[in-house]
Amino acid sequence: MEASAVLKGQPIYRRARAVGINPNYWYPIFWADQVRSGEVVSAQIWDTSLAVYRDAQGIVHTVEDACPHKGVELHRGEVHGNNLVCPYHGWEFDSQGSCVGIPYFPKEQKLPCAQARTYPTQEAYGIIWVFPGAVELAEQHPLPEVPQYGQPGWFMVRIPGHFQAHFSICNENTMDVFHGFLHKDLQGWYDPKLLNLKQDDHGVAADYQVSYDGFLSKLLGLGKKGSDSATRTVSIRYRYPHYATALESVSSLYLMRLPVGPQETKSFSLLFLKLPLPQWLLSGPLARVLEKVILNTVFIKFLHQDVEMMESEQRNYSIDPKRNYVEVNPAIIALQRVIVGQYENLEKLPKSQQETSKESPIPPSQEVSNGMLV
Ligand code: FES
Ligand SMILES: [Fe+2]
Repeated sequence: MEASAVLKGQPIYRRARAVGINPNYWYPIFWADQVRSGEVVSAQIWDTSLAVYRDAQGIVHTVEDACPHKGVELHRGEVHGNNLVCPYHGWEFDSQGSCVGIPYFPKEQKLPCAQARTYPTQEAYGIIWVFPGAVELAEQHPLPEVPQYGQPGWFMVRIPGHFQAHFSICNENTMDVFHGFLHKDLQGWYDPKLLNLKQDDHGVAADYQVSYDGFLSKLLGLGKKGSDSATRTVSIRYRYPHYATALESVSSLYLMRLPVGPQETKSFSLLFLKLPLPQWLLSGPLARVLEKVILNTVFIKFLHQDVEMMESEQRNYSIDPKRNYVEVNPAIIALQRVIVGQYENLEKLPKSQQETSKESPIPPSQEVSNGMLV
């Protein structure tokens, strides 16, 4: 993407809105149960179109969504056994993307050398992941760790998100604990303070102190007996390009980000709660019903409020990308630095140096009051 080169020397927030992704990471593209055996579907990672199919053995594969013959979208094709067949002339491609059959060729005729690009693909945590970058780096870059997944004592709620906004806007929303005002009708949280902040080339670690005094406090069992109010520490860890956040040992949220395009982003979130409910309800056949109830009665409402803000921010950015803004949370500035650095360093560094990391002290020389830049 050319834009970031043009924007060098501009404020960091403006550069963050214009950058593309570093493709050398695993990105989530579907919940595992969205792609059934024998099914092929389309997906998009930062304007790269993909055809994703699950073969007869249940293994998921990803190929570029363009047939090497004439460019027809392969996601319109059919799955035959372990192969994908183009809908136009019926050319058949194996899981390595090689053409292994043309229906109108006599058996003895040599097949042309036609190769579709394939992408490393894996399933973990009930999510299908694709590595859109340099294939040789896929094994060096592990998936995010989700230690609570499948562990007894934790109740998992899957939260899908879809936003018409650049991924930097979405990521800033997750890092921004100071927007409790938006959720006041839902009795979210109040009185946030930024306690600690660290940044390096790969991510941002921020700890906030937050108070709860309502529905969330009750749901999570935060308050002491006879009181619903509680003050806790929320730890937010952004490790490019995903998030792991924790409310002490009470809940954890793993937010996996999929940048679809310059103004479209998805998220696949796994929220783990310790609910004060009986075990038969948390792990029995009613668990999936309970997941839907918690999702729809609580967290989707929060998410909808956030979506409105993010999309509103994007609309004004799109109308006037040169408008100036005032950011006072050093954690947001740190996040913008990581997002910009991951993209710009990818362009200028040779591959061997892409893994280097250097500490950058945050906050810089600015005076800080209550965790805010002044
Ligand atoms: S375009 Fe795919 S087989 Fe011809
Ligand atoms: Fe929010």
